[in-house]
Amino acid sequence: MRRTLGWALAAVVMIGAGCKQPTQSGSEIVLGEYASLTGQTASFGQSSHEGLMLALEEINAQGGVLGKKIRVITEDDGSDASQAVNVVQKLVNADGVAAVIGEVASKRSLAGGGVCEQYRCPMLSPASTNPDVTVENGKVKPYVFRICFTDTFQGRIDGKFGLEQGWKNVAMMTNVDEDYSKGLSDSFRKAFAAGGGRIVAQESYSGDTKDFKSQLSRIKDKNPDAVYVPGYYNEIGLILPQARQVGLSVPFFGGDGWDSPQTVKLPEARGAFYSDHFSPEDPRPEVQHFVQAYRAKYGGRTPDAMAVLGYDAMRVVADAITRAGKADRQAITDALAQTKDFPGASGTITIDAEHNARKPIVILQIKNDAAALYKTYPPE
Ligand code: PHE
Repeated sequence: MRRTLGWALAAVVMIGAGCKQPTQSGSEIVLGEYASLTGQTASFGQSSHEGLMLALEEINAQGGVLGKKIRVITEDDGSDASQAVNVVQKLVNADGVAAVIGEVASKRSLAGGGVCEQYRCPMLSPASTNPDVTVENGKVKPYVFRICFTDTFQGRIDGKFGLEQGWKNVAMMTNVDEDYSKGLSDSFRKAFAAGGGRIVAQESYSGDTKDFKSQLSRIKDKNPDAVYVPGYYNEIGLILPQARQVGLSVPFFGGDGWDSPQTVKLPEARGAFYSDHFSPEDPRPEVQHFVQAYRAKYGGRTPDAMAVLGYDAMRVVADAITRAGKADRQAITDALAQTKDFPGASGTITIDAEHNARKPIVILQIKNDAAALYKTYPPE
């Protein structure tokens, strides 16, 4: 409460001072990052933060940008959307960052993006896929960008993939508290039905659900060929074991929200599929450089999608500042909008008119403790 009040006061002081953009003078350029380092989806924030820090280290080792070192102020939002608003307000107003990087979860990018829009500070989301993050009610948000594809594309590919697997009757489970889950459910449903598939059950749950057995039992009664769950890994970690408990043994599949070091460790996840942004098996030199450097820095661990997207987000912002020629919010915003053919480790990044990137999507299959590349779909 006291911290919130402090930031609110800082905001008032800023407005009182004519809303002047804090100067980025001195020997460094200061950027902000907000991430879920703790809370329900902590692995999202931890991974994206690790990727970002690796990129930061590389950039500063090569002399930084515009002859200055970059410093990143990182704030933990605890996996909570209202906390995301508080910490982004602090970064933008009290710290006077030149740009904000974050978040992974769409709901929190929608929340933080509102603050960045209000104060005209550029924000780059590494991984949020809900369409509304960058375009709401047909209007592009001038200051918010992402370097990943959207769920309009992901849902379409997941629908197509299900049909290609020969699954005609699919059951769905949606987290009604997450914009991500609701949006991906909608686009999957449309694509799957348009291709001749049938949704035989549509079950819902809330963000704090721990017992999914009644939903899973009702799904079992409908005899689906497969179950589509566009949820987050913490939910998947409960749903998959409980599905086995109620005797539901058909294949499960989902979207990028499944990605976490925890999902691949689940015995009940073996054989399941999910769509994602990246496979560490990709032989492209940008990918292999990143995978090696990440392993060297982080005890031999293999990076996940949030890590590679955090890494690329930091590099795209540094590239935009270089092209802008100054650490000025409006100049960085304009440069971000013009990002073209950036050689990212997560794919080539061009920001389109809707502030999104068009990139390939991979389908991964979970095998003993790892997610193996199963199929790749090109961007549309
Ligand atoms: N796309 C998810 C969202 O918008 C976040 C996410 C990205 C999760 C990548 C895992 C991997 O909420």
